[in-house]
Amino acid sequence: MNILSIETSCDETAISLIKAHGAFGKDFSYEVLGNALLSQVKIHSQYGGVFPNLAKREHAKNLVPLLAQVIPTISGTTSFDHEMLKTLLEREPELFDALSLYLKEQGKPELDAIAVTHGPGLEPALWVGVNFARALSRVWNIPIVPVNHLEGHIAMGLATTNALKPIEFPALALLISGGHTELDLVEDWPSFKTIGETRDDAVGEAFDKVARMMELPYPGGPAISGLAQQAREQNFEPATKLPRPMLHEQNYDFSFSGLKTAVLRLVKDKSLSEHEKKAMAREFEEAAADVLVGKTLRAVEECGARTVVIGGGVSANTWIRSRLNDELEKIGCEFIAPEPEWSTDNALMIALAGYFRALRNEFIEPADLKANGNLRLGVKV
Ligand code: KG4
Ligand code: ZN
Repeated sequence: MNILSIETSCDETAISLIKAHGAFGKDFSYEVLGNALLSQVKIHSQYGGVFPNLAKREHAKNLVPLLAQVIPTISGTTSFDHEMLKTLLEREPELFDALSLYLKEQGKPELDAIAVTHGPGLEPALWVGVNFARALSRVWNIPIVPVNHLEGHIAMGLATTNALKPIEFPALALLISGGHTELDLVEDWPSFKTIGETRDDAVGEAFDKVARMMELPYPGGPAISGLAQQAREQNFEPATKLPRPMLHEQNYDFSFSGLKTAVLRLVKDKSLSEHEKKAMAREFEEAAADVLVGKTLRAVEECGARTVVIGGGVSANTWIRSRLNDELEKIGCEFIAPEPEWSTDNALMIALAGYFRALRNEFIEPADLKANGNLRLGVKV
């Protein structure tokens, strides 16, 4: 099956094309035929976070050039109903112009499904991808399979370059990104129950906000992680310990807003020396990791999980990975993580998750497809 995938939930515009075979498990294999991504990080960095309407505009500008990079050139043209396409893309006139031009010199490619992220994420940004998928589905007559962005992150954690890592169920997925922090019980693929989530900030959001307080660049995760690493190498200890919020509460929920505020109290109206910044970055990273690891370990024991898979931008964090790896090894639980470069948003993850949904015939009428910024992965239990 050839799957084209589209991801526009946040500040990366991404399109992939894969050829996949087999069912979930050992006989699954895939090949990446095309993969392209444009990051808006530099554009948003001046605001210290993602600006939704700016993201929407950038996605509309980027989608057709990325599609042209990923889809092989097929000589000929695609004829389509001009008015229908114009109506479908009435909120993205720039995208309509670019797509009409592209279709004039592009025949229909061999595609079996279009997988598109329909949530969760920034709704104005998601809509651009959704409308683009609807437009392509109509002009090329290809069915759409809607994909949950978080399911994509988990699928990416499980993927090797051309197949899947073996996984034993029940598994736990720890999703840690700029928008989410949650623990999901994965009883089979694709069957998810959310057993815990953040009550306020996502862990990536806390990394970004703390970085901003310390005048470090956006996104804050890699910047803090780099300083924390130096602090460990140079044995810089923090002068004050930070809290480990909710670590000992008998549930799987998280809270990172208090941790962020604790840093704010310590850095406000002070100019920190390089030494102090590194020590603070280390203590913050270790506090966040302690909570994530502690909660995950309790969930593993209480749910009898055989495997833990992590995903989302923060799963690129070396300290969090190595802590999870060490602690899970001690209790004989398998630990699976995506390659760090595939931890952050991309379209390959949407193609993979979409393929398994397409196998189940989970297609949707283009007219019924909607973006949902608050889409959940599983029922909250
Ligand atoms: O999954 P992602 O690309 O986008 C969302 O869906 O949110 O995650 C982006 C988040 C940002 O908050 C960024 O600071 C964080 O992932 N991040 C990291 C690291 N690399 C990216 N956080 C901690 N350590 C890292 N190495
Ligand atoms: Zn993400």
